[in-house]
Amino acid sequence: APAPLVDPFGRTISYLRVSVTDRCDFRCVYCMSEHMQFLPRRDLLTLEELDRLCSAFVSRGTKRLRITGGEPLVRHDVMKLFRALSRHLDTGALEELTLTTNGSQLTRFAAELADCGVRRVNVSLDTLDPDRFRALTRTGAHAQVLAGIAAARAAGLKVKLNAVALKGVNEDEFVPLVRFAHENGMDMTFIEVMPLGELDGPERADQYLPMQEVRDRLSEAFTLDEIDYRTGGPARYVRSRETGGRIGFITPLTHNFCESCNRVRVTCTGTLYMCLGQEDAADLRAPLRESADDALLHQAIETAILRKPKGHDFVIDRTVPAPAVSRHMSMTGG
Ligand code: GTP
Ligand code: 5AD
Ligand code: SF4
Repeated sequence: APAPLVDPFGRTISYLRVSVTDRCDFRCVYCMSEHMQFLPRRDLLTLEELDRLCSAFVSRGTKRLRITGGEPLVRHDVMKLFRALSRHLDTGALEELTLTTNGSQLTRFAAELADCGVRRVNVSLDTLDPDRFRALTRTGAHAQVLAGIAAARAAGLKVKLNAVALKGVNEDEFVPLVRFAHENGMDMTFIEVMPLGELDGPERADQYLPMQEVRDRLSEAFTLDEIDYRTGGPARYVRSRETGGRIGFITPLTHNFCESCNRVRVTCTGTLYMCLGQEDAADLRAPLRESADDALLHQAIETAILRKPKGHDFVIDRTVPAPAVSRHMSMTGG
């Protein structure tokens, strides 16, 4: 078998996040600009190219594959890709095929996703208040997302909810979000906001909440016990004694987890980012298109992995106005 991908810091790359579209039916204020310029369709990798690319990674030891966006479920015919990729679950080469979604299309796709071997979905839900939800997502319909979450559960998918912790926006909802998640058998994860892309609205520094403050608020309602549950991602989990459910914390700013990073990302144009928090990238579209043979592709991947940086250098500080990374989160799907 071809050699696994190991970076210069000895980290084995076993987790690939693939963004299948930069488009989204929402415009979350912390993720996109209101007037986002989307890529012309001709720049996108085809579904066949995405399959080749993912399969190349699987052959080099990728065990977990997460489809992201923008919103992955707005990509035309995306279920064909899931269907194709599910063959790697059947052979055992891949341990997990999953996605991160805003939930808006789950009523339509949940059953089919489950049928393709997806067992778990991560759904972004920052608030339980429909008006607030509309303000945060600019275009999103709260009821549609709640129906999507219900459809996912009805299809037997495990659901993890993600909320970005935002000062003055949803900080009064951390406890209700946990209650909602746990009452419905879901994990709840909170995320520190990361400085990616210029925003047209709020200053990151005005919205940023360190995770300790989230924990403090939760501790007023719940007794949190450390547990060693891990999903292969950066979240650290605790269990609430009162609800019995899990709460995850993702702390890129206050507790850097880069040392154990196991992942890289590919955008919908075939650009490989070795780190979410760095600009350095490698083009995989050219080698994909240059030859039907995967040798060039493998070479490009190997060379890129050797440049994987030690980690991000995110700071959120009023004295550092420009974001560390100029691309928006919607290019890499987190
Ligand atoms: P699982 O643990 O497999 O459920 O996934 P996850 O929590 O890694 O994935 P998800 O797509 O739900 O991501 C949740 C948040 O974590 C997003 O805001 C991501 O941007 C962030 N995140 C995921 N991986 C990384 C990473 O490697 N570095 C940083 N800084 N943030 C990450
Ligand atoms: N900082 C942290 N998380 C973000 N997300 C989008 N933008 C940001 C940001 N700037 C989250 C979404 C979703 C996941 C893919 O990334 O809410 O849960
Ligand atoms: Fe879309 Fe997700 Fe970005 Fe919101 S956070 S605009 S749902 S890609």
